[in-house]
Amino acid sequence: MPPSARHDAWQAGDSYEAYMGRWSRPIAARFLDWLGLPGGLDWLDLGCGTGALTQAILRQSDPAGVLAIDPSEGFIATARRALDDPRVEFRLGDAAALATLPEASRDAAVAGLSLNFIPDRVAALREMRRIVQPGGTVAFYVWDYPGGGMGFMRAFWDAAAALDPAARDLTENRRFPFCTREGLAALARDAGLEPEVIAMESPSVFRNFDDFWHPFTLGAGPAPGYCMSLSPDARERLRARLSETLPRQADGSIALGTRAWAVRARV
Ligand SMILES: C[S@@+](CC[C@H](N)C(=O)[O-])C[C@H]1O[C@@H](n2cnc3c(N)ncnc32)[C@H](O)[C@@H]1O
Repeated sequence: MPPSARHDAWQAGDSYEAYMGRWSRPIAARFLDWLGLPGGLDWLDLGCGTGALTQAILRQSDPAGVLAIDPSEGFIATARRALDDPRVEFRLGDAAALATLPEASRDAAVAGLSLNFIPDRVAALREMRRIVQPGGTVAFYVWDYPGGGMGFMRAFWDAAAALDPAARDLTENRRFPFCTREGLAALARDAGLEPEVIAMESPSVFRNFDDFWHPFTLGAGPAPGYCMSLSPDARERLRARLSETLPRQADGSIALGTRAWAVRARV
């Protein structure tokens, strides 16, 4: 694990849901709208986490089956509790587990907000391509970290780095510089795919400062993992700095946008 990944905390499913679920679920639905695939397909969801994309596939895409894989026991347990559906199989494993799946055994292989966390992402995409049958779809989406597409994370890390210069190396825009339209297209091409890339944008509005801050104190995900690694005093300094610097709307809410890049390719 690279040192910059040491705060990647992928265990507590409920805490992750409070931090990310409210933003990742709408984006999963948008992604499937864009794919526009017919019903009756066999899907793979790589890095399924707590099941945001898996659930959207069940709701929107009328699948024959979904094999949903993630290396986090806690996340898989949360997803299993939330999605009791005979069409889904949750399996504990990382991207390397794809090697155990037969060639051309799926119609669609997708990954929601997870590809950037996979150390060898080109290998993962190659495996997704291998297990999808000709004419099928390989597709994924990630946040536009370099372009500031995760406004609330950028605000958090800007404040953190102002107080602790070492935090600069932990920011997702430094860790995942390839999460640009061109970078992702190049990744897909390296894996032998002919990609199409679009931006998916949506607002993220926090009711008030507590609504913004509380999820960072739950410890699930890189920024919350960092937040909870701080001493109580250092955490309070960070909270105070964010509280002073975040722009508020007239009603006290905090509006920060999200943008993800979505990539799809036919096999
Ligand atoms: C930001 S979460 C996204 C989860 C979910 N797909 C969603 O949209 O909410 C990233 C996920 O990637 C998973 N992950 C991390 N390393 C991985 C790897 N090597 N192979 C597969 N998944 C991985 C984590 O366990 C985590 O569930």
